[in-house]
Amino acid sequence: MKVRDSGMPDEEMWDSFFCPRKILNLFGLSKETGDLVEFGCGYGTFTQAAAELISGKLYALDIEPEMIQLVKQKCQAAGALNVRPQLRDFVTQGTGLADSSVEVTLLFNILHHAQPVALFSEAMRILQPGGICAVIHWNYDASTPRGPAIEIRPRPEQCVAWAEQVGFSFDPQERFDLQPYHYGLLLRKALT
Ligand SMILES: C[S@@+](CC[C@H](N)C(=O)[O-])C[C@H]1O[C@@H](n2cnc3c(N)ncnc32)[C@H](O)[C@@H]1O
Repeated sequence: MKVRDSGMPDEEMWDSFFCPRKILNLFGLSKETGDLVEFGCGYGTFTQAAAELISGKLYALDIEPEMIQLVKQKCQAAGALNVRPQLRDFVTQGTGLADSSVEVTLLFNILHHAQPVALFSEAMRILQPGGICAVIHWNYDASTPRGPAIEIRPRPEQCVAWAEQVGFSFDPQERFDLQPYHYGLLLRKALT
């Protein structure tokens, strides 16, 4: 079941909203980072940059065959051999990954889902102790040039409350202003 209002403008416009490497660096991705899962990779705006930064495998999940095809092509062309694009509906099927098996989950521009706690719950399940869940979303501001309808757009405080419901912890210093239109949140799974 596709997350409501999760279509995107054309790729060139979408890419103009982000500086992927800068954002991923803020979340601490580096060569010491192991396996990562991206919930809804879309055009792969963050996929390639993340794949280059980390040492682990990157599972790029999306419900749209054309997005998976595009990400496959881009990663092949770039020689990003650690990317595993997978056609998958993570709402009805989950990620298909084992419990406590990955270090990082990315929930980027997806938390306007009708059941956001279920996404956090799946992220919590597959994360290793000490793993992180990185969130970005459109600012709660109707004047942004794109983004889901303001009625279903989550505020950062709301995302934190959902994440805390399933056991993530949050340090307010790990909230980021991702100019021009987004915010970021780093949520942590306890070490034990
Ligand atoms: C708004 S886009 C964000 C893409 C990417 N995360 C980014 O920030 O550039 C949401 C993506 O999630 C995908 N998606 C929506 N519902 C999904 C589901 N149930 N399972 C897998 N992918 C889904 C859409 O096809 C779309 O590519």
